Amino acid sequence: MRAKDLMRPLLAGNWKMHGLKAALGEIEAVARQASRGLVHADILICPPATLIEQAVRQAAARIAIGVQDCHPEPSGAHTGDISAEMLKDAGARYVILGHSERRKDHHETDALVAAKAKAAWRAGLVPIVCLGETETERDSGHAKPVVSGQLRKSIPTAGGVRELALAYQPVWAIGTGRTPTLGEIEDMHAHIRRELVLHLGGQGHAPRILYGGSVKAANAKDILALPEVGGALVGGASLKAEEFSAIVSFAKENS
Ligand code: PGA
Repeated sequence: MRAKDLMRPLLAGNWKMHGLKAALGEIEAVARQASRGLVHADILICPPATLIEQAVRQAAARIAIGVQDCHPEPSGAHTGDISAEMLKDAGARYVILGHSERRKDHHETDALVAAKAKAAWRAGLVPIVCLGETETERDSGHAKPVVSGQLRKSIPTAGGVRELALAYQPVWAIGTGRTPTLGEIEDMHAHIRRELVLHLGGQGHAPRILYGGSVKAANAKDILALPEVGGALVGGASLKAEEFSAIVSFAKENS
């Protein structure tokens, strides 16, 4: 069993549709700070796909670069899409999948997220599969069944499971400045771990479960210290190196 105290946290920045070339300096600054101090975390930044190659150069292997989506097919007549193989070829190591913004804006289903996770494994990328309930679902007492359903249907088991991370992101906490209480986060992460073990057997102990939704330097320390919180997926607060590095500094390994 892989307990939290044996896990190295994953601190991931999701830049969403933000960032021109001028923002690459932020990646360089995070990488520089990561190499300076003692960092007890795997650090990842997922900029827009247009910046990946340059971001990989800026990161100089000190932090990982990832992406925010991929197409399930390796190639083909899919105008405007990018395959997992292409993203891997450009230097990406992780891919965020099933973010609630994509589930909403692009009508992504759990089945499509599962197909994309398979594509990520096929190409050698680590998928970060996002799960989370809406405010209405939480208020009506359905948060756990909703998250369980997403987990079972978005994480493929046929053909074998490879490296994987999850992100619990309550939709109502994303970009709002609101977060669940620490008790609610702890409770949901414990639930997700139990569901993962039911779904994947012994392999369900391994994936890191990140928390995402209005994480910032002011709340990261308490959130990252919770049991079964294996890191954070950070949106707005990852755009500036200073704030993101402050969040990273709270990550503790083997504490
Ligand atoms: P936020 O976004 O940190 O800006 O709330 C998190 C995310 O959507 O990944």
